Amino acid sequence: MPDVLSPGLEQLLATDRPTPYLALDPAVVRERYRTLARAFGDARILYAVKACPEPAVLETLVAAGAGFDVASQTEIDLCLAAVADPSVLQHGDPVRGPGAAARAARDGVTRFVTDSAEDVDALAAEVPGARVQVRLSVDDTGSATPFHGKFGAAPDEAVALLGRCRRRGLDPAGITFHAGSQQTRPGTYAAAVARALGTAGRAGLRHPELDLGGGWPVAYRSPVAGPADYAAAVHGAVADAVAAGHVDGADLLLEPGRALAGPAGVLRAPVLRVSRRPGIDHRRWVYLDVGRYQGLAETEGEAIGYPLRVPGRSGRAGPCVLAGPTCDGDDVIYRRTPVALPSDLAAGDVVDLLHTGAYTSSYASVGFNGFGPLEVVVAGEGASIPHPG
Ligand SMILES: Cc1ncc(COP(=O)(O)O)c(C=O)c1O
Repeated sequence: MPDVLSPGLEQLLATDRPTPYLALDPAVVRERYRTLARAFGDARILYAVKACPEPAVLETLVAAGAGFDVASQTEIDLCLAAVADPSVLQHGDPVRGPGAAARAARDGVTRFVTDSAEDVDALAAEVPGARVQVRLSVDDTGSATPFHGKFGAAPDEAVALLGRCRRRGLDPAGITFHAGSQQTRPGTYAAAVARALGTAGRAGLRHPELDLGGGWPVAYRSPVAGPADYAAAVHGAVADAVAAGHVDGADLLLEPGRALAGPAGVLRAPVLRVSRRPGIDHRRWVYLDVGRYQGLAETEGEAIGYPLRVPGRSGRAGPCVLAGPTCDGDDVIYRRTPVALPSDLAAGDVVDLLHTGAYTSSYASVGFNGFGPLEVVVAGEGASIPHPG
């Protein structure tokens, strides 16, 4: 993806306003949704609200026909406020606390994801007859931010859980997985689909729901495979599973978050200080007014490398360490990731971090060390405060 910004983003960034802020253009989200939907044909798309729960984004996706992957009552409330029909919401967090599923069901949510016997029993008690997908553990090689085994049952256990759902009066609809976010290898999805449909077939589901989770990547600093490549890998793996007699077919669902919201945002941050650190580091240190705690959580371990640009400066680019403003030693954005910024960069300039629409405002702390949450400015609207997610 070339780093060309949408007219909506360019217009927001051309307006003088207090920094820092996240500029967000829902039109980009709509376009990304349509591209993914076209590539996958008749798959249903459930937007992962956690990526960016901004109301304008949710309203845009409701209008486009999307459903939603939600993890909490707050996310359910946000979707309902955006006038989503509760039937298009899926509660995808299998670590719901007591009463959470019943509360969601009172709002009309009927679809849930599970991955443990304890949760199946809780769902059966709280939402009799609920439609349930069992989350399967899969290999997530190729992901920049893997789950490290936090979720998902092994295949034998998943078969047992689908049977347990049936015995407890739930409706076992199929299998879901998540191959890790910023998943750059289509082949990883193909392998996960094979494992999922083999598991569904063993549980007696001839035409299961197959929810591919999220993971679809954004071209931050390097090109990535496009939706058509992922669709080809997935459709090929489904065809193979049918040919092998594991299932007769599958209804596909996708839960993209990053891929829809990421390219829709630009985080504009003021430079607080540019300093030399003789005897410590030969590079300049550039401190921004945002860091790990004001929305750049995904730079932990330097997992995600956002492209940078500096409006209004043209000095020769030289190496820098990029750091956040707080007194926390972990609040260094990029130490190993190469960062080259203009030699004439000075305190008071701004730096734009591109493709920051996903997992930024929803991660910002409420005020760690006195640095406030990230303000969001939406194309076509006034400013709004961030929402929990
Ligand atoms: C259950 C579930 N679905 C979908 C997503 C969205 O993932 P991504 O933003 O990588 O598309 C997540 C994010 O972690 C998730 O936990």
